[in-house]
Amino acid sequence: MARTIPIFAEKAAATSGTALEFRISPPLALYVHIPWCVQKCPYCDFNSHEANGTIPEREYVDALIADLQSALPLIWGRPVVSVFFGGGTPSLLSPAAIDELIAAFRALAMLAPDAEITLEANPGTVEAEKFAGFRAAGVNRLSLGIQSFNDEHLKALGRIHGAAEAKRAAQLAGEHFGSFNLDLMYGLPGQTHEQALTDIETALSFSPTHLSCYQLTLEPNTRFAAFPPELPEGDICADMQESIEARLAAAGFANYETSAFAQTGKQCKHNLNYWYFGDYLGFGAGAQS
Ligand SMILES: C[S@@+](CC[C@H](N)C(=O)[O-])C[C@H]1O[C@@H](n2cnc3c(N)ncnc32)[C@H](O)[C@@H]1O
Ligand code: SF4
Repeated sequence: MARTIPIFAEKAAATSGTALEFRISPPLALYVHIPWCVQKCPYCDFNSHEANGTIPEREYVDALIADLQSALPLIWGRPVVSVFFGGGTPSLLSPAAIDELIAAFRALAMLAPDAEITLEANPGTVEAEKFAGFRAAGVNRLSLGIQSFNDEHLKALGRIHGAAEAKRAAQLAGEHFGSFNLDLMYGLPGQTHEQALTDIETALSFSPTHLSCYQLTLEPNTRFAAFPPELPEGDICADMQESIEARLAAAGFANYETSAFAQTGKQCKHNLNYWYFGDYLGFGAGAQS
């Protein structure tokens, strides 16, 4: 008779004769969606909405905790090994709100002591104090939506920050977080091959542990889909991709997912947990679960 080892035994599933069988409960990756941004970027089809100056933080934190409470019977006994605050722009929340949420996850769910806790931040919504507050709250990995370090390209993308803010945020990320990701996009309106590689060099100068490099795509139901900007030709974008991959490989970054590059041991555990174990508890307005 097959026997399984009770690593995260949910409960004794069956007894037969003298043998006891356990079911092993796979770990969970917890995704928390924060659906507001300062303003909507013209290329973005994520579930994100303009904050119009203020967000209902108190109400939303209460709703997230109530949501988790109602899901508890479904996840009983299963360790939560990663948490990802995604958006939208999670860095619009105060450190106190993030602290309250993480404390609730620890109290209600089996949050592993060494869980990877990532927060997405927009360079237009950060200050040093806020980063220190997120770190103190338990966030141990930051993901910064840089997109480009070139003012013209940031403007074409409708971003709320310029190159100077992007650089400052990347610098601060390195000072406060041992593990941090920079999101970059290439194939931008008016961008040359050389400019795409300059963005990569600038990103590397901040010593990130992880880089995500996405080719800009025109998504349906976005402003860019309705009024398409002129983008570099397909062959030029393919050359950009090849050069980016070669440069990052030379810098010691492994391309472990389509657009994700990481130093050894610095892959995003949240992505790996999700793909390897297939169990993903998503909550918050518009979260995919
Ligand atoms: C959900 S967004 C969250 C990041 C954060 N809100 C920000 O923009 O600063 C995650 C990343 O997806 C990428 N992204 C979003 N829309 C895209 C598009 N149309 N084409 C390529 N990449 C895109 C951007 O690099 C963005 O940083
Ligand atoms: S800040 Fe990020 S999530 Fe918000 S609209 Fe722009 S790309 Fe989308």
